[in-house]
Amino acid sequence: TTRFSVGSKSFTAVAINTASKAGEWIQSKLGDFNTLQTKYSVHDLVTEVDKGAETMIRNLIQTHFPTHAILGEEGVEPGPAASQSALERMRGEEYLWIVDPLDGTTNFVHGFPFFSVSIALAHKGEVIVGVVYNPIHNELYVAEKGKGAYLKGKKMRVSAEPLLTDSLVATGFPADKQHALPINLQGLQSLTPKVRNIRVAGSAALHMAYVAAGRLSGFWEIGLNSWDIAAGALLITEAGGKVTDTLGNPYNLGVRNLLCSNGHIHDEFAQQLAEAGATGF
Ligand code: IPD
Ligand code: CA
Ligand code: CA
Ligand code: CA
Repeated sequence: TTRFSVGSKSFTAVAINTASKAGEWIQSKLGDFNTLQTKYSVHDLVTEVDKGAETMIRNLIQTHFPTHAILGEEGVEPGPAASQSALERMRGEEYLWIVDPLDGTTNFVHGFPFFSVSIALAHKGEVIVGVVYNPIHNELYVAEKGKGAYLKGKKMRVSAEPLLTDSLVATGFPADKQHALPINLQGLQSLTPKVRNIRVAGSAALHMAYVAAGRLSGFWEIGLNSWDIAAGALLITEAGGKVTDTLGNPYNLGVRNLLCSNGHIHDEFAQQLAEAGATGF
């Protein structure tokens, strides 16, 4: 059986509390930040709010669970190689928190109100708690392995659409304009005529929460990181959907080329990406 607490301290309660506090602080900083830096490329932004939120999250988790490991985006050197090696170093930890303190930095910087805090807890490499918080809409998405996924106390269920042609799906325009973006654009070109429509709103974690909530029937993106995906993956599977890589292999913490859906459209979706030669690089 899976443990969701140590003594009386619930992992889920700490995840919820931490995501809420960080999200509210981020919202209070909208339009009120000073440092805008670029990371891996000129399109890859970071502010002191990303870093401040991560520090806040790390401190809260460490206070409650001092022996647990934490992998957070702003604690890792920029770029795909460093993210991958940080994950490889840490994925063997018994308890590993995987944190994206602000998913949708570009939106935050421009005041486009679509961003989130994403916090997951993995036990021996398997995600057991996933929380995504959108402070703008005050929407907190929570999942516990084997116990379902909830939004505002209501159990979430993925959409029922059986076909790609009736589906609203989403993707991202990756910051890695050299490798990931061209492949993703190839997928976009091939999928756009096959689906009802496509949204690209700028937060992978929040798009995944929308798949769990049945607002989108699918989402894919090439070249994501573990912290973009981990919490959303549990939300979707607990809401009855499917999470794989773009080749259809089951989700694990190392997946970077992500395909997730309501399950019904999954094979058609994967096949379309494969036909377009858009499954990865
Ligand atoms: C980014 C967002 C964006 C996605 C990028 C991510 P960040 O995360 O999720 O939607 O297209 O690939 O890197 O940097 O804002 O946390
Ligand atoms: Ca970032
Ligand atoms: Ca992110
Ligand atoms: Ca981020």
